[in-house]
Amino acid sequence: MTAPTVVMLSPGYPVEMAYFTRALAAAGARVIGLGDQPAAELPPAARDALAHYEHVALADEGAVLEALRGLARHARVDQVECLWEPYMLLAARIREEFGLPGMTAEQTLPFRDKERMKQALDAAGVRTPRHASTSTVAGVWAAAERIGYPIIVKPIAGAGSADTYRVDDGAGLAEVLPLLRHVPEVSVEEFVDGEEFTFDTICAGGEILFENVMWYRPRPLQMRLHEWISPVSIVLRDLQVPQLQGGREMGRQVLAALGFGTGFTHMEWYLTAAGEAVFGEIAARPPGARAVDLMNVAVDGDAYRGWAEAVLHGRLSRPLQQRYNAGSIFKRAEGAGPISGVTGLEELQAAYGSDIVLVDILPIGAPRRDWRATVVGDGWVVVRHHDLQRVLDMTERFATDLRVLAGGASGAREW
Ligand SMILES: Nc1ncnc2c1ncn2[C@@H]1O[C@H](COP(=O)(O)OP(=O)(O)OP(=O)(O)O)[C@@H](O)[C@H]1O
Ligand SMILES: [Mg+2]
Repeated sequence: MTAPTVVMLSPGYPVEMAYFTRALAAAGARVIGLGDQPAAELPPAARDALAHYEHVALADEGAVLEALRGLARHARVDQVECLWEPYMLLAARIREEFGLPGMTAEQTLPFRDKERMKQALDAAGVRTPRHASTSTVAGVWAAAERIGYPIIVKPIAGAGSADTYRVDDGAGLAEVLPLLRHVPEVSVEEFVDGEEFTFDTICAGGEILFENVMWYRPRPLQMRLHEWISPVSIVLRDLQVPQLQGGREMGRQVLAALGFGTGFTHMEWYLTAAGEAVFGEIAARPPGARAVDLMNVAVDGDAYRGWAEAVLHGRLSRPLQQRYNAGSIFKRAEGAGPISGVTGLEELQAAYGSDIVLVDILPIGAPRRDWRATVVGDGWVVVRHHDLQRVLDMTERFATDLRVLAGGASGAREW
């Protein structure tokens, strides 16, 4: 059998894409990359895996199709893959244009447009937050009236919690509306109180080959609003606990309702104090923020490879299953300017030893990152253990006791 030729859109950006690209090659594909990055800027993991690379503006659909027509004269293209949200629809259009298998634009749209998504799921009887979409100020007021406060107002095709606001009353809505002027269409939703989880899968032919649940602490909107918070995600080992069953069942129902076939999926859902699972959103791609690496730490395996095997062969060569709870803590530096110090690390290392899998903090002197623009912040720590309580304790200690200082910030806490 000859190796299938797979076109990978954006094979080196964001950083995780390079690992998916490498996995495709390792699992037996001949991989052709198409992306915005100049070839010289591709990360080595991607560059070494690619048989060919075309530097083309992905935002320019005509240029992308033209480049592919050129390629198609020399090589038969069997498959197109894209795991980066902004170009999922482009991948679908390419498949349609070249008659390739995989998700069509019609199948992809409900994963991109939050209103279409919820309409399809309402029709299937999934518990979504009460919702409406609108492109006018009057429409937002009417939706708020109908849904009832508190509400969430957010872009219809948002990412990274950008332009997302919780609004508690009319006065609050009047304050928020001017901030949304640049958003063409907004989604207004019932605010669902509760804890926030993911339901992530690798599927082939509509069958779930690998399943993952991650717990966000605190809720992503809180992470986004407060700089002092260290965002924590925990990949859970035990998926059989009663609290997770509603979300897992919902996840299966959602995949079936949207007719998902093959690839990675990432769903977010809420668990209310009363124990009800409520749908959040779903994407036909893996979660970002290094969550696939966190899965790998939890399963002691390679979910990048698992995805590649699923899309190429329809099965996994080795089962992927969580053996640990794995916690990720992102640190945001205190202060402005270059990184000037790190405190608390020695004590934490003495306390937790080999349960700490990774500590990756910007070096002293490096400019600190814009915490609003990046989810990974200025430092990343990964811990794991069989016991969930120990992982909760470790993530909380790293969140509070590990401090990354920038500029003139002193070791003394000012807040
Ligand atoms: N109806 C809701 N009820 C309560 N909280 C909500 C609701 N909708 C959004 N949020 C909060 O806002 C966050 C961002 O919303 P959502 O996940 O829909 O948008 P996004 O910007 O696509 O997300 P991501 O950060 O995953 O890219 C959610 O994780 C949640 O904390
Ligand atoms: Mg989200």
